[in-house]
Amino acid sequence: MENLQLRSFADYKKAYKKSITDPEAFWDEIATTFKWQKKWDSTLEWDFEKPEVKWFKGGKLNITENCLDRHLETLGNKTAIIWEPNDPDEESRYITYRQLFVKVSHFANVLKNNGIKKGDKVCLYMPMIPELAIAMLACARIGAVHSIVFAGFSSSAIARRINDSNCKMLVTANEVYRGAKKVNLKEMCDKALEETPGIETVIVYRRTVEPTPMKEGRDKFWFDELQKAEKECPAEVMDAEDLLFILYTSGSTGKPKGMVHTVGGYMVGTTYTFQNVFQLEKDDVYWCTADIGWITGHSYIIYGPLASGATTVMFEGIPSYPDYGRFWDIVDKLKVTHFYTAPTAIRSLAKQPLNFVESHDLSSLKVLGSVGEPINEEAWHWYNDNIGKGNCPVVDTWWQTETGAIMISPLAGITPTRPTFATLPLPGVQPALMDDQGEEIPNTSEPVEGRLAIKFPWPSIARTIYGDHQRYKEVYFSTFKNKYFTGDGAYRDATGNYRITGRVDDIVIVSGHNLGTAAIENAIDEHEHVVESAVVGFPHEVKGNALYAYVILYNKVEPSEELEKEIKNIVSQTLGPIAKPEKIQFVSGLPKTRSGKIMRRILRKIASNDTENLGDTSTLLNPEVVEEIKSGALN
Ligand code: WT7
Repeated sequence: MENLQLRSFADYKKAYKKSITDPEAFWDEIATTFKWQKKWDSTLEWDFEKPEVKWFKGGKLNITENCLDRHLETLGNKTAIIWEPNDPDEESRYITYRQLFVKVSHFANVLKNNGIKKGDKVCLYMPMIPELAIAMLACARIGAVHSIVFAGFSSSAIARRINDSNCKMLVTANEVYRGAKKVNLKEMCDKALEETPGIETVIVYRRTVEPTPMKEGRDKFWFDELQKAEKECPAEVMDAEDLLFILYTSGSTGKPKGMVHTVGGYMVGTTYTFQNVFQLEKDDVYWCTADIGWITGHSYIIYGPLASGATTVMFEGIPSYPDYGRFWDIVDKLKVTHFYTAPTAIRSLAKQPLNFVESHDLSSLKVLGSVGEPINEEAWHWYNDNIGKGNCPVVDTWWQTETGAIMISPLAGITPTRPTFATLPLPGVQPALMDDQGEEIPNTSEPVEGRLAIKFPWPSIARTIYGDHQRYKEVYFSTFKNKYFTGDGAYRDATGNYRITGRVDDIVIVSGHNLGTAAIENAIDEHEHVVESAVVGFPHEVKGNALYAYVILYNKVEPSEELEKEIKNIVSQTLGPIAKPEKIQFVSGLPKTRSGKIMRRILRKIASNDTENLGDTSTLLNPEVVEEIKSGALN
């Protein structure tokens, strides 16, 4: 389905212009190409003051009819998902659109048989196996809301998310393969389940043959439940503004934010951007290496590609197993044409000897993508030269969990690219750069830098934070009047091309994962010997950023390596290993403003070894502590 594709830069400019002058007519035309059970009454209703955004109000549809049913006649035998296992010796699975349709309908009945109804919340904590895709689509089929928790998260992170979104069911697997390791997911769930009274049923997929302890009455095996279920399941009729899913992202207070995405706008936004950014042709094989536990996987492994009738690859493993050539081995084996990954993966692969790349035939590749954090110049060139061989456009796609879909990005082969630039806004996206006074910097042909905001709604914007609309308003709509604030800084050159410079708030992107420093501080503060802590990011060669924790201990407690280890462990257990600080420095105090706010700017500079220019420290409550921290006196 290539019907939404712009074909030239002139097409893009024309579409962009129309999307600004008449956004409703623009999106109306695009939305009409989808399968609706009833057409919408109004295209857009919005008010950023409230804030409230509604797209295609009154429209009735089911996203799975768009991802599955409508392809059956023309693409029924086409491969929808190619699954590549962790172990290269295990067989890949090819699932056609028809087979996926049957599997989704079948599992949808398992959900129903276990009491799940429209509007109920289901937590999915699963490895990268086709059953994850099946479970999420099965939820969408019956109008249940999926809340996927990345399978690298810890028990307490699962429990917190389950409780926050009132999930009734948990779907998981007994174990997951991760490189040479096996991780027991069910054990992780069992620990979480001690604190989640709302969960009535747990469905367990057996990824391995290991015995799995099951709780009578609550835990059921995936296959046993399938035996009892009917195969056909009609699609529930959903309103365009009904919830499709909740997905958590870090906030700058400790509590994760459950971003809410709704059916109609999300479908239109992800599909339109998928087709235009990647420019797939009929028999292309598209591979996004993200985990489905993140928004990239939701939008660009599942919903966007499937609604477009594409062949999408799901990879269970990691880039370094059995060796650092694994990604290139898969590209070669599956003849991947479109490859979409994160800068942190590119940097870690670029550090390896080139023969890991050169021993594989990458000639099938046509387009390369990057997402998750700014891609540095060196990584960009390595990717372009060694993977794309200078023949594949690199699309640097800027967007967020909150935006649902790509916002600023080249269209492959159409938009002129430039290292480190996400280039131009997609049609329908109206960016604004804001100065320190909160005023919009006019769009003249001067190069400028500012905070990045968006002036007008787009269909896939998250509609709220689950259970906390007030926080949604505060975080995104109160920094600038009548605009959505992204939390990022950006540079715009004389030709209107954007380069994202990074977060301007208390969020650090580590290996492409969005981490709120407050949650990490809360975890560290749980340690019995810790009084207070402050966590900041500092540049890291492979991870982009790593975490640096400044920790104040109680009087009489001596800093030690043992203590460092314990602190790292606490973080790992509370939030998952990705949040573990790289460095810990014990300090006697933290630089604070007179109102008691930690001056992270100073800590960031010290952590990055940039102690020359600390700026004005005289306004601090305790300027003397800066010298101590600089000298590392307590360590
Ligand atoms: C933050 C959002 C969107 C999917 C993955 C991350 C950073 C994302 C880029 C890019 C520079 C980028 C931003 C953004 N970011 N893509 N191409 N160039 N920065 O989703 O976890 O919601 O994080 O990731 O800082 O705000 P997320």
